Amino acid sequence: MVSHLRMSEPKPKKPISSHRWIFGYLMAEKAIFLPSLAALFFTAMLSLAFPWFLKELIGNPTDALKDGVDPQQVLAKSNRVVLELIAVLGLQAFIAFFRVQGFIRSGESALNRLRRDLFAHLVRLPMRFFHEQRSGALSNRIAADLGVVRETLLTTVPQAVRQSVILVGGLTFIFIASWKLSLIMLGSVPLVVLAIAFFGRKVRGYSKAAQDSLADAGTVIEETVQGIADVKSFTNEPFESGRYGRALESFFGVTMKGAKSRAAFLSFIIFALFGTIAFVAWFGAHMLANGEIDATNFVSFILFSIFVGASLGSFPEIISQLQQTSGATERLRELLDAQPERTDGDAEVKLGGALAFDHLSFRYPSRPDVQVLEDLSFTVEPGQRVALVGPSGAGKSTTFSLILGFNDPDVGSVRFDGRPASSLSLQALRSQIAIVPQEVLLFGGSIRENIEYGKPGASLEEIQAAARLANADDFIAALPEGYETLVGPRGTKLSGGQRQRIAIARAILADPRILLLDEATSALDSESERLVNEALERLMQGRTSLVIAHRLSSVRHADRILVFNHGRIVESGTHDELIDHNGTYRFLVDTQLL
Ligand SMILES: Nc1ncnc2c1ncn2[C@@H]1O[C@H](COP(=O)(O)OP(=O)(O)OP(=O)(O)O)[C@@H](O)[C@H]1O
Ligand SMILES: [Mg+2]
Repeated sequence: MVSHLRMSEPKPKKPISSHRWIFGYLMAEKAIFLPSLAALFFTAMLSLAFPWFLKELIGNPTDALKDGVDPQQVLAKSNRVVLELIAVLGLQAFIAFFRVQGFIRSGESALNRLRRDLFAHLVRLPMRFFHEQRSGALSNRIAADLGVVRETLLTTVPQAVRQSVILVGGLTFIFIASWKLSLIMLGSVPLVVLAIAFFGRKVRGYSKAAQDSLADAGTVIEETVQGIADVKSFTNEPFESGRYGRALESFFGVTMKGAKSRAAFLSFIIFALFGTIAFVAWFGAHMLANGEIDATNFVSFILFSIFVGASLGSFPEIISQLQQTSGATERLRELLDAQPERTDGDAEVKLGGALAFDHLSFRYPSRPDVQVLEDLSFTVEPGQRVALVGPSGAGKSTTFSLILGFNDPDVGSVRFDGRPASSLSLQALRSQIAIVPQEVLLFGGSIRENIEYGKPGASLEEIQAAARLANADDFIAALPEGYETLVGPRGTKLSGGQRQRIAIARAILADPRILLLDEATSALDSESERLVNEALERLMQGRTSLVIAHRLSSVRHADRILVFNHGRIVESGTHDELIDHNGTYRFLVDTQLL
C-alpha cells in the first residue's frame, strides 16, 4: 500500500533540459572531452585555410599577370603558397588524429555510464512496471533511444561545433572580400535555405512514418520466427506470409506518399538554390566588370561562399538530429525517473519461517476491475508444508508474488514471524525465500552458472553437491561438456524435468528459509517425475514450504491444503479432512483434476 501510493505521486518537474542532462554525462569526461573540443575549434578554423590558400593561388597570379609581372615570381609565390597549405593540412591532420579518438573515448565512456545507470535502475523497478510493458518493446525502445543519443554524442555534437566555426569564420571572410556582395547573398540564399529546411522537415516526417511502418513489418518476422513451432504445427505459413505482405504493402504506400514530397524537394533545390547562386555570381561578375571588386576578392568570395553554403546546408540535419535526441533523452529520463522498488525496512531480519496473510485483498494495477485476491487469511507455521490447489486463475501464483513482495496488497498484509512485510527489507526477505517456478527459464550460460545463480560465488563443489541433491548430477555428468554445457536460449535444450531439477539445485544452493514451489502443469514421464519428486522432498526438508500443486501425490502429504477459488480460500484442512468434507477439494480429486 505504502509504495503503491509512492508510485502514483506526480513526477517532479525536470529541473534541467534534456540536452544539458546529456551534456552532464559528457562533462564527467571533461579531462578528455574539453581538450578534444578545443582541438576541434582549432582544426575547424584551420580548415578555413584551405579556401584561403586556394584564393591566394588562383586570385593573385591572375592579378599579377595582368600587371605584367614576371611569371617566375608568380610561380615562386605559388610554390610557397602550396607548401604553406601542405604544412597547414599536415598540422590539421595530426591534430584530427587525436581529436577524433578523444571524442570517441569521451562519448563512448559517457554512453557507457548512461547505459550502466539505466540498467541498474531498470532492474530495480517494481514488477508492475514490467507487467505494463509489451515484451520486447522496452528493450527495443531503450536500444533505439540510446542509438540516437550515441549518434548525437559521437557525430552530431562535433559536427555542430565544426560547422558553426566554419560558418562564422567563412562569413567573416566573405564580408572582408566584399560586404556589398555578401549582403546580396545573405539577402537571397538564406531564404532558400529556410525553404529547404521547411521542406526537408516534411520529407523527414514521411520517412519517419515509413520507418515505423517498416518496423511493423519487422515485428511480423520477429513474432513468426519466435513462434515458428506454432506457425508450422498450425500450418499457418501462408497466413504469416500474408500478414507480412500486407505490412509491406502499407510500408510501400507510406513510402510512395513521401516520394512525391521528396521529388518536389529535389526539383526545388536544383532550381532555386543553384538559380540563386547563379544570380549572386552574375551580380559579382558585374561588380568585377565595374571594378567594384578585384579578382582575388571575387575568387575569395566564391570559395568561402561554397564553404558557408555547405555548412549552412548541414544545419537542418544537425537540428533535426538534436530534436530527435531531445525525444530520446526525454524517454530515457522518464525511465530513470520511474520510482524503483523500496529499499527501506529491516535489512538484518532472520526469518523464522512463519508466514501469514492477514485479511489481504489485491487487484493488479493494470486490471483494477478484477478482484484477484479477496480477504485472504491463512497462517503457516515454521517448517510446515502447505499445498495451494484450485482452478486456473484462482490466484495461486498471485499469492506467491505477494509473498515475494512483487506486488503490494491493497488491503491487509503479509506477515513474516508476525512482522508486517512492509517493515522488512525486500532484499533481506527475498534472499531467504526461494522459488521453483512453474515454467523454468534458464539464462544463457553454462549449467554451472545457472545453478550458481542461487548463491553467486558458490564453489564448484557446492554446486555439484546441490545438483546431486536435486537428482541433476547424473544427467549433467552425462552431457559431453558436463557442468560447462551451455543452456538457455542459444544452448543445449534441456527437457522440462531436467530444467526443473536445475531450478531445484539452484534453490538448494540458495538454502532458503521459505520455499515456494509452483508445480509444473505439464506432465512429466513417471521416471522424471520420481526424480523431481525425490529432489523436491529433499529440498523441502526442514523449511517452510508452500506448494502450488497440480498432482494429488504432492498434496497428500501436505500438513495443510488451501483450496483457492476466485481469489478466496474456500476450504482448508488435511487431505483426509477435505475428502470427508465433500466439497471443492473432493470434487477436484474425484474428477481427477488433481
Ligand atoms: N500481471 C498481471 N496483470 C493483470 N492480471 C493478472 C496478472 N497476472 C495474473 N493476473 C490475473 O489474476 C488472476 C489470478 O492469476 P494467477 O496467475 O494468480 O492464477 P493461478 O491460480 O496461478 O492460475 P494457474 O493455475 O493457471 O497458474 C487471473 O485472473 C489472471 O488473469
Ligand atoms: Mg499460476
